[in-house]
Amino acid sequence: MPTEEEDFDPVTYAGDIRSEVPAYDQLQTAAISAARAAVGARVLELGVGTGETTLRLLELHPLAAVWGIDASAALLDVARARCPRARFRVGRMQDALPRGPFDLVLSVLAVHHLHALEKASLFQRVYDVLQPGGMFVLGDLVLVEDPADVVTEIDGEVDTPNRADEQLAWLREAGFTAELHWRLRDLAVLVARRAAQANTAQR
Ligand SMILES: C[S@@+](CC[C@H](N)C(=O)[O-])C[C@H]1O[C@@H](n2cnc3c(N)ncnc32)[C@H](O)[C@@H]1O
Repeated sequence: MPTEEEDFDPVTYAGDIRSEVPAYDQLQTAAISAARAAVGARVLELGVGTGETTLRLLELHPLAAVWGIDASAALLDVARARCPRARFRVGRMQDALPRGPFDLVLSVLAVHHLHALEKASLFQRVYDVLQPGGMFVLGDLVLVEDPADVVTEIDGEVDTPNRADEQLAWLREAGFTAELHWRLRDLAVLVARRAAQANTAQR
């Protein structure tokens, strides 16, 4: 899959992504179903793309205040037209996040573009911008052991997914309680919660 250097085409994105990730809509549904448990109205989305996840989120939480970042200005233009109330800006997940605090941070099919250390750093920064009691929902491509579960082609440069269990460990190191919410072959939804009382002992 392309990343910011190889821009996704906003016109063909909807078809392209579904041919690369046949269970794309199931992944979106699973991520949004996990987000149902989030309490509160301030949401940050990472890797907004054309706003596919945002639209589903706003169906679930119509009054939510949504902020979002993406590396691609062209994709965000489409997202802005589809979700005019959301506040989107061009930005990279490796850089400082909007300060929040947020009740929910959500990301679908974007974090696998980061390398392992960048993912671990991101999880720490997501923890820091969440309210105590807040939730991080991560739906993404993951590395799997059984070759029969590999559906999406991974080039190892643009796409650098990690195993679900590695990412759960990094989320726990960041201070979250974290669990695998859903998995279908090489797609997974991880749910991480920040304790309602700040837990400094784990960090
Ligand atoms: C496969 S698309 C997913 C978009 C959307 N979340 C969805 O589910 O349709 C990956 C998105 O991640 C964005 N992206 C890739 N690397 C990024 C980075 N380092 N920081 C921010 N966004 C990035 C791309 O521009 C693209 O919009």
